[in-house]
Amino acid sequence: MDYSEKVIDHYTSPRNVGKIEDASGVGEVGNPVCGDIMKMYLKIENDVIVDVKFKTFGCGAAIATSSISTEMIKGKTVEEALKLKNSDVVEALDGLPPVKIHCSLLAEEAIHEAVADYFRKQGTMTEEEIVKKCNLKPHDCEHCCH
Ligand code: FES
Repeated sequence: MDYSEKVIDHYTSPRNVGKIEDASGVGEVGNPVCGDIMKMYLKIENDVIVDVKFKTFGCGAAIATSSISTEMIKGKTVEEALKLKNSDVVEALDGLPPVKIHCSLLAEEAIHEAVADYFRKQGTMTEEEIVKKCNLKPHDCEHCCH
């Protein structure tokens, strides 16, 4: 399988790995295709993502996509972060092999879940509004990690 130099770089030295103790929002998702898990921590001030960390039990492509996504959303508003698509991330990595595209969804979905968690903590939106705004996927019970 051919990986771009960027994928190899982010896989071998991933940025922003870890955990934020006083995170404003935390999102955890499982990949229904392979069962891998991703957890994303966001520190948000005035709707701007000032810090982001992630942890994953995932493959190299999942690590690389998460690593570059954290760089892409840091300093952005939550609205901008919600617009980040896995296709943008794949493009920023100069592509992924087709069988690995599903891995890039983990980062996008974990960001959406973390922003949803932030909105829930703020308590200004209904659950229905949050699900719509963050485009949350229904939980896949078979692979759910909770
Ligand atoms: Fe599971 Fe890539 S094989 S995230």
